[in-house]
Amino acid sequence: MTAAKDSRRVAYDTIRAVNESDAYANLLLPRAIARSGLDTADAALATELTYGTLRRQGTYDAVIRIAADRSIQEIDPAVLDVLRLGVHQLLSTRVASHAAVHESVELARSAGSRGAPGFVNAVLRRISRETPGEWMERVAASARSDDERLGLVFSHPVWVVRAFRRALAAEGRADELEALLTADNASPRVTMAALPGLASIPEDARHTPYSPLGFRLGGGDPERLVTQSGGTLRVQDEGSQLAALALTRASPMAPGERWLDLCAGPGGKTAVLAAEALLHGAALEANEVSHARAGLVRKAIAGVPLEVPVSEEDGRVRAGEGRYDRILVDAPCTGLGALRRRPEARWRKSPADVPELTQLQGDLLRAAIGGLRPGGIVAYVTCSPHLAETAGVVGEVLRDIGSGIEELDAREVLRSMSGSDPGLPAQKDGSGRAQLWPHRHNTDAMSITLLRRT
Ligand SMILES: C[S@@+](CC[C@H](N)C(=O)[O-])C[C@H]1O[C@@H](n2cnc3c(N)ncnc32)[C@H](O)[C@@H]1O
Repeated sequence: MTAAKDSRRVAYDTIRAVNESDAYANLLLPRAIARSGLDTADAALATELTYGTLRRQGTYDAVIRIAADRSIQEIDPAVLDVLRLGVHQLLSTRVASHAAVHESVELARSAGSRGAPGFVNAVLRRISRETPGEWMERVAASARSDDERLGLVFSHPVWVVRAFRRALAAEGRADELEALLTADNASPRVTMAALPGLASIPEDARHTPYSPLGFRLGGGDPERLVTQSGGTLRVQDEGSQLAALALTRASPMAPGERWLDLCAGPGGKTAVLAAEALLHGAALEANEVSHARAGLVRKAIAGVPLEVPVSEEDGRVRAGEGRYDRILVDAPCTGLGALRRRPEARWRKSPADVPELTQLQGDLLRAAIGGLRPGGIVAYVTCSPHLAETAGVVGEVLRDIGSGIEELDAREVLRSMSGSDPGLPAQKDGSGRAQLWPHRHNTDAMSITLLRRT
């Protein structure tokens, strides 16, 4: 087998497992690559084919539906995945058309019924006769509404398009919707953090614009740097760094403060909090309800010479009454702000997930507020810009509690620590919530609200 053929096979097997068994591409693919012994270039090709196909699946299905003149549900799922991978090569890569069609037909021979190779050949040939631009026009013309058009062209479920539109409109930036959808379809560059007081940003690295800890490598292997530094240099999204720092830098830190990271797993933000606590003489505790993820938290903070107890309780009861000066609630959420990281994630979520999550988010936030001393601060963070999970949860909790809580200006806190102005427009509801965006900040779409118990 040629190497490119191997890359396609690895990509196909991974896509199949993701679509058939709900597997995660980012966990499966590295193992499949190692098993098949692909070299670096072919591993990169397999990764591009897998991630690109899964991300753009919504668009490709629309193209296949038109070219095959039948609904996607009528196509054998194993053959449909062959077609998706083939369409990706035809419309989004520089792979020669004849190679893309030929290799897809070969895959169909092993994947589908006797008629599958002929069907794949006919559909892909039809698709290869028009340019990607022409296909996008046909796909757009098949939509029944503007949101559906955006969903098909930018490969997002329509409910996600709507949630993004509303969240951008809440800050008067609805016109950025296409830029956001485009950013979701590109792989994020690796961003790293140097834990404050424990590591410095390497001299040859480029500082990120907003987080004082953040940097990107010009080249080299991030994982090697993580190992060599004992975990004091870490891979971490810049928005995640900012969320942890928003809590510690919302007010001057004083020795003897008690901090709690209520939903800590896998521990990215805990590591930043631990380094800040060590520098400023605070005590930090972490909590994570999942045993496996609590283990990841312990690993994440191993490089910080501070004793951080990690409990494994339900955060709705863990915070107790009036004990802490700062609490981070990095709540479980739909993760709609990190769609560029997990290529299949957008197809796994549904609007039905939202009410259950917002209930839990509200309960966690209420419990955290109860756990604050007077003057204590809670940072309520989601890796989702969905208004129900952000402004909705905060608004409802504040209404329930009635008085004794003031909101701080999270946008101002971020501005004060950033090297460049993060460009955070005011929220129309008048809140101080900071919303980061992939297209504007090159971060995950983190929402950060800071509340102080008065
Ligand atoms: C968004 S993640 C936290 C990410 C983490 N702060 C980081 O930066 O690496 C939310 C976490 O909350 C945990 N979780 C879910 N329900 C919880 C509960 N009732 N109490 C505490 N943690 C919970 C999940 O297992 C998950 O690890």
